[in-house]
Amino acid sequence: REILILVAILAYLLGSVPFGIVMARVFGLGDLRKIGSGNIGATNVLRTGNKLAAFLTLVLDAGKGGIAVLVARAMVGEDAAQIAGFAAFVGHLFPAYLGFRGGKGVATFLGTLLALAFPVGVMACATWLIVALITRYSSLSALVAAALSPVWATLLGHPDKTTLCAALTILILMRHHENIQRLLKGEETKIGKKG
Ligand code: G3P
Repeated sequence: REILILVAILAYLLGSVPFGIVMARVFGLGDLRKIGSGNIGATNVLRTGNKLAAFLTLVLDAGKGGIAVLVARAMVGEDAAQIAGFAAFVGHLFPAYLGFRGGKGVATFLGTLLALAFPVGVMACATWLIVALITRYSSLSALVAAALSPVWATLLGHPDKTTLCAALTILILMRHHENIQRLLKGEETKIGKKG
């Protein structure tokens, strides 16, 4: 159906907006790609030391996934909501405005999940927080939260979202290959540290 293609394109364009780069510019923090891990996400914005900019990046990158889902659901339906969430997430990873070189998708994944299946999103956020509190590694927290999301979807009565959760998890794992190498070597930077 044409409407689903239109939903996917619009959600992709929204997901493409790199709020980390926007916030780094707005707050005069310089080129995020030359700081820390070079990633465009909230974790890397935090390495500049600006907590507000990092928080806004987290909320806006999550919000674009959530908004895409909620608008698509309200205007078209549940299938469109899933397509919109996936497209917004893909937009963050492969943004048209940045030569298709984007981020790792963690905030957008969480925002998308919160809007798609609220209890699953809450458990994913809780998983991230618990691992972060224990280990202080943002990447490890994201990897565990993503990996468990299909389990939460199945257990919490959203089996129709399990496939999407698994697909997003695979993309998140692929995007974190450098982080995984650093974690294995014990060289990953902890949250808030400049590294
Ligand atoms: O949200 C991305 C996070 O999991 C890793 O970010 O900058 O440490 O590679 P970074």
